[in-house]
Amino acid sequence: MPYTLAFDVYGTLINTAGVVDALRPHLGERAAAFSSRWREKQLEYSFRRGLMGAYRDFSICTRDALSYTCREFDLGLTGAQSQALLDAYRVLPAFDDARQALEMLSQTQHRLYAFSNGLPGDVENLLQHACIRDYLLDVISVDEIKSFKPDPAVYRLFNQRTQSEAQETWLISSNPFDILGAHHCGFHTAWVQRQASALFDPWGIEPSATITGLTELVGVLGESTA
Ligand code: LAC
Repeated sequence: MPYTLAFDVYGTLINTAGVVDALRPHLGERAAAFSSRWREKQLEYSFRRGLMGAYRDFSICTRDALSYTCREFDLGLTGAQSQALLDAYRVLPAFDDARQALEMLSQTQHRLYAFSNGLPGDVENLLQHACIRDYLLDVISVDEIKSFKPDPAVYRLFNQRTQSEAQETWLISSNPFDILGAHHCGFHTAWVQRQASALFDPWGIEPSATITGLTELVGVLGESTA
């Protein structure tokens, strides 16, 4: 059976830890910890803005989270240095398995989309830069309705924009909050557990499938080859 596939972008296709190299000159051995904290605060700001109904786009959440994390780590950056880090965030690399998985899946009948909190232009650029845009039919961004994952409205937006039904849709994400949000809306879900140490939230809900890399998706979904 062909499915509609919603690929999360940041953290799933695209590696947000790719910014560690740009952080290292400023932070040395603390660069990875800084990157994780920056990402956590970025998501927290998106959750809070979604709940408050105070939408500012994801690039603003990213920028404000960088400012917060600099304070927490006692890192003073010039405006140009901050901008250089934000620029690095716009050209993050894809995970090693993303291209191969998308290539394999694009040869099946499944319909592949990017589905992200990011601005449409930012996501387009990221995917282009990582050479994986052409495998995807379109980019669906929460910006269209000015809210963020896991607001149920954004999963409904995905179905509306892709003319799909929740029960024939898979959300593929490394982010447990995204998996739970999609499950809540009736999607099938594949959680990408890239590291054995990654934990899934104990809410009494399991992903439809748990995979350790994106190439395992082909086996999970069945090939439905055209
Ligand atoms: C995204 C977030 C979850 O790409 O990072 O939607």
